Amino acid sequence: FHTLDDVDVKGKRVLLRVDLNVPMEDGRVTDATRIERALPTINEIVEKGGRVILLSHFGRPKGQRVDAESLRQVVPTLEHVLKRKIAFADDCVGDAAAKIVDGLKDGEVALLENTRFHKGEEKNAADFIDALAKSGDIFVSDAFSAAHRAHASTEGIAHRLPAYAGRAMQAELEALESALANPQRPVMAIVGGAKVSTKLELLGNLVAKVEYLVIGGGMANTFLAAQGKPVGKSLCEHDLADAAREILVKSEKAGCEVVLPIDAIVAQKFEAHAPSHIVSVDHVGENDMILDVGPKSIAHIESLLANCKTLVWNGPFGAFELPPFDEGTNAVAQTAARLTVEGKLLSIAGGGDTVAALNQAHVAQEFSYVSTAGGAFLEWLEGKTLPGVAALMQSSQR
Ligand code: 3PG
Repeated sequence: FHTLDDVDVKGKRVLLRVDLNVPMEDGRVTDATRIERALPTINEIVEKGGRVILLSHFGRPKGQRVDAESLRQVVPTLEHVLKRKIAFADDCVGDAAAKIVDGLKDGEVALLENTRFHKGEEKNAADFIDALAKSGDIFVSDAFSAAHRAHASTEGIAHRLPAYAGRAMQAELEALESALANPQRPVMAIVGGAKVSTKLELLGNLVAKVEYLVIGGGMANTFLAAQGKPVGKSLCEHDLADAAREILVKSEKAGCEVVLPIDAIVAQKFEAHAPSHIVSVDHVGENDMILDVGPKSIAHIESLLANCKTLVWNGPFGAFELPPFDEGTNAVAQTAARLTVEGKLLSIAGGGDTVAALNQAHVAQEFSYVSTAGGAFLEWLEGKTLPGVAALMQSSQR
């Protein structure tokens, strides 16, 4: 694909797709990471004398104007992070957009209202794409985290205007390439989280690509149960026992070692600081709930990790939101961070709860790369082609 190195943006209207779908409480942005990631691209275009027109979705308003999902709420944080004024257009197409875009001078920045206020966005509708394209001479995509959606502002528009990858998109794709496409081996993948059902494809793809697949979180219980171990009252998808066994067979054929917990921290209540103890996974009691991995499991994972060159991490080990059941996640995250700092490991993490877990363990800064993407990160790890990335490739071939 083409990047900002391949185009002279001076005097051009650059439609820049970013992901401003940031966490918000009471109309205030609670985590500006995604905004900060867009900064290098915005600044570069500004410094080169281009006109930046920011496009994004926010929430899931389903084609209707919903005040609670207006991007106007993001403007103060955006201005604060950018350290410059931005013009806001009440609509991403039509007269309101045209008025703001026509008023922009070189080096200025505007933000258009939520693309999902129009049905044409998610339908990837030709007339809506045309309406969006009126605001730009070129299109730049910096929203990897929305690239798994074949929507007008992520995919369709890249066929309509000359399209380029922004710096954040570039960084994300490079990091992911070095994690799985062309990694230094051995590679360990850690996959945690509650449910196997949402990650079957992911596990299936990973066993063919990595040397060690560590399964944690509620998902591990499904695997333990599939091996005939007692899991008591733990979160467990008993109906997926066959699927879990299939993955174990596939991994053996592929020469991938699946690493399951050897011991666990169990409690009888799902709450923070519930009385708990350590048991072997062979002795989980009838009323026990597995809420974290135990110390032997942690030591085993850490010893394997010490010999790995690459780590891909998606999903926490235990009920990390309930202390002290975050200890397993924290311990392994800290070891990964130390090995990374020592230059022995390339560590890449992403997807939903993972970033929150690493932030909680205070190690996100030390990881080689932390993706801000949720669903897009997962789909990439599943080996899928992301429509928003494919469209950039196709544009560069035209
Ligand atoms: C995300 O937050 O993962 C992206 O912004 C995509 O949002 P969506 O799942 O609503 O498409």
